[in-house]
Amino acid sequence: MTDEQLIALLKELSLEEKIGQLLQLAAPFFAGTGTEGQITGPMASMGITEDIIKNTGSILGLSGAKETIGAQQAHLKKNRLGIPLLVMADIIHGYKTIFPVPLAIGCSWDLEAAEKSAEIAAAEASAAGVHVSFSPMVDLVRDPRWGRVMETTGEDPYLNAEFAKAFVRGLQGKDLKNDLTRLAACVKHFAAYGAGEGGRDYNTVDMSERQLREYFLPAYKAALEEGAELVMTAFNTVDGIPAAGNKRLMRDLLRKEWGFDGVVISDWGAVKELIPHGVAADEEEAARKAIMAGVDIEMMTTCYENHLKQLVERGEVDETLIDEAVLRILRLKQKLGLFENPYRGADVDRERENVLSAEHRRAARELAVKSSVLLKNEAVLPLKPEQKIALIGPFAQNGDILGPWSWMGSKVDAVQLYDGLKAKVDASRIIVAQGCDIESVTDDQLDEAVRAAREADVIVLALGESSDMSGEAGSRANLRLPQAQLELAAQLKCLGKPMVAVLFNGRPLDLHGVYDLVDAVLEAWYPGTEGGLAIADLLYGDRNPSGRLTMSFPFAVGQVPVYYNNFNTGRPQGAPEAQVRYVSQYLDIPNEPLYSFGYGLSYTTFEYSGESISSDIMTLTQPLTVTVKVANTGKTAGEEVVQLYVRDLAGEVVRPLKELKGFRKILLQPGESREVAFMLTEELLRYHHSDLAFASDDGEFAVFVGPNSRDVLPELSFKLNK
Ligand code: GLC
Repeated sequence: MTDEQLIALLKELSLEEKIGQLLQLAAPFFAGTGTEGQITGPMASMGITEDIIKNTGSILGLSGAKETIGAQQAHLKKNRLGIPLLVMADIIHGYKTIFPVPLAIGCSWDLEAAEKSAEIAAAEASAAGVHVSFSPMVDLVRDPRWGRVMETTGEDPYLNAEFAKAFVRGLQGKDLKNDLTRLAACVKHFAAYGAGEGGRDYNTVDMSERQLREYFLPAYKAALEEGAELVMTAFNTVDGIPAAGNKRLMRDLLRKEWGFDGVVISDWGAVKELIPHGVAADEEEAARKAIMAGVDIEMMTTCYENHLKQLVERGEVDETLIDEAVLRILRLKQKLGLFENPYRGADVDRERENVLSAEHRRAARELAVKSSVLLKNEAVLPLKPEQKIALIGPFAQNGDILGPWSWMGSKVDAVQLYDGLKAKVDASRIIVAQGCDIESVTDDQLDEAVRAAREADVIVLALGESSDMSGEAGSRANLRLPQAQLELAAQLKCLGKPMVAVLFNGRPLDLHGVYDLVDAVLEAWYPGTEGGLAIADLLYGDRNPSGRLTMSFPFAVGQVPVYYNNFNTGRPQGAPEAQVRYVSQYLDIPNEPLYSFGYGLSYTTFEYSGESISSDIMTLTQPLTVTVKVANTGKTAGEEVVQLYVRDLAGEVVRPLKELKGFRKILLQPGESREVAFMLTEELLRYHHSDLAFASDDGEFAVFVGPNSRDVLPELSFKLNK
């Protein structure tokens, strides 16, 4: 359909039919989905009628080609003008082939692999008839108490923006209409959902507009510049107004300033939540505020459905606002080719062949290898095939390694750690014992674990959080592993044998009680469907760990929020003239995190040397090149993430001690060295001033290169003279 035809179609719609396009309901409301009639809980009290359903514009939460075809067929028979449903779902890190959680993918520092994971997820989900994915989630995070840190790529705006673009490229490809293996991307959650006070989900977000623009907005903007078709509003307030009713955030910034003309969808129930937030007295006011703010689709509540018509008839809402929203939705359906082919991509055969294919599993295993981070290794890894291993812990034989938002993935398909190890060595080399449950332990479990450990050369502890201890509404005030697991580790420590801890978790943890007891720590996150094989590849040295943290591990929860790109303060600890007491510090713990942004070890060693800068003056037309030589000085091939940081020594506002401005992940053979060059441009030095102007300043800058944000080489410096 041409745009003129879409506009003509819009004109044919009644007001009720237009309002129906602004509603998104879950699958159980629709015939043909196989889940119809399974309407429970809050859904049951929504008062949805057949009349409403036939006008509905989109559906979420489907499970397969047969169901989506069924739902679409049934809908097209009922909808007066045959307007097809948009089918949307959460395809966050895979559909049935589950990749590591996004926080793990971020730690791979591998943009191509991230893009590939999104492409595969789209290929599987599109075969199941999905049109739109509620991803990428690009909320910047600094607080590991929040359960959804697992869903982001971490604490740095530059890196998050790069990953946001990679995920959008993978999901949407280059020709959304004709490439039926792709999905439209819905970047979320707009905005700053990761900054909830206390790390408590859905909690208040309150920061200056400058802070919002400098750190929390860049990744959303990058996703939209890469072509993401939709935006999802966040649950939280932004400067006192919930995002779903925030005109300044959505109409002024997103639409006017950024020029976004795609579809805005509320998060689940976020329009009606304007009432408990206390900015709407009732559903009618919630509907008015949300449509005025620019929410096109109301997900799973019926404020629009129940009140927009009256608001228009009373002249309190201009019908053109509704027309604009409906036209954006019709244009999206057109972009996806749904008017020509309402069953776009849904294909039972392709679904059967495609899903969990050997190729997809290989890609998931590869990314799990690249996403794991070796945090500690005192000559105990890699394991030797001839060693007798005691595999002990609640994750020794546990399929709960897919992580949150893996709703179509099956734990049955997941390769557990024990299976992964048995794929490497004869089962007789491995003694397995549960040792404890996730949050409880019995004497019998401990006794069994000690017996197993006594027979072994090396103890491999498989510890972590069950996946429901993170994810949405999964905030934890205590960041340590559950006490039962710490007790297991302490008991086994008494045997005096080498111990390795493999961690399956969705957030940076306070690793006291683990890292200080064991000889090696491998952070596996939730590694996905192929997790057991990938971790076994790493433990036995068939692959060399290359992950680097993209979110700081705090020394203690009392340090939170702790992040690498912090400010110096007026009384920095350790400054030459610093006093012993009256400086910015804790009396009981260090200021530094336990493990810093960018940190990760390898089975080989890398040496940096010869760092240089092409000039000590940068102008608008003369960028600089920073080069450094990196050598693999060990006996094993390995990948290193060479990182470039910059510091603006005197800004118009305070500037971070370091800001990531470039990285390269390079593979070096033993003895091989390579010169790595980074281009530094004036654009990379721009920041938001106190008047929100985004610009660079003349002045002195320091440049750092190194393997992480802490262990950098001596600084280089230059001046910007514009
Ligand atoms: C949830 C999440 C959002 C998700 C949506 C649909 O509440 O906040 O990320 O896309 O509902 O499942």
